[in-house]
Amino acid sequence: MKRIFLTAAAGIIAAGAAFADSHEAGDAAEGEKDFKKCKACHTIVDPEGNVIFKGGKTGPNLWGVIGRQAGTVEGFRYGASLVAAGEAGLVWDIEQLTAYVADPKGFLRSYLDDNTAKSKMTFKLKEGLDVATFLAGLTPPPAE
Ligand code: HEC
Repeated sequence: MKRIFLTAAAGIIAAGAAFADSHEAGDAAEGEKDFKKCKACHTIVDPEGNVIFKGGKTGPNLWGVIGRQAGTVEGFRYGASLVAAGEAGLVWDIEQLTAYVADPKGFLRSYLDDNTAKSKMTFKLKEGLDVATFLAGLTPPPAE
């Protein structure tokens, strides 16, 4: 199981690095360690119901979060600002997710250009590139 993720991750990292261009590439293995901080509130469960990371339910399932419209996990009660950002076109990619985890409220305020925007996620991780890369690696690459 683990090997499958890592193989998938390697492909995405390469893609991520190419897309990030001048930015430094994230390290998925480091990101997996960082995810320990996230799992207090986030579980990762794939569509078949396999639990990749057993975590809390305070936050939405993060399986497939890269490439997903913000605020769209069915049954999760998001804050209005995150849903609004998704409706305004926010689809998580590595860069946006990195910026979001560094300061969720600040990110939403600038994304929505609304200084009253709120976030239900108060946790901050200053260096989120690795964890974003790790999460990207969990998503199977789209069939082409
Ligand atoms: C203390 C609990 C908590 C921790 C710790 C936490 N989160 Fe969250 N997270 C939340 C909540 C609650 C939301 C929903 C925010 C909203 O609705 O405004 C959320 C939302 C998100 C979203 C948006 C998902 C979507 O479906 O649009 C991402 C991405 C995310 N968190 C990533 C992370 C990462 C990565 C970490 C670790 C670095 C982390 N979170 C740590 C509680 C947490």
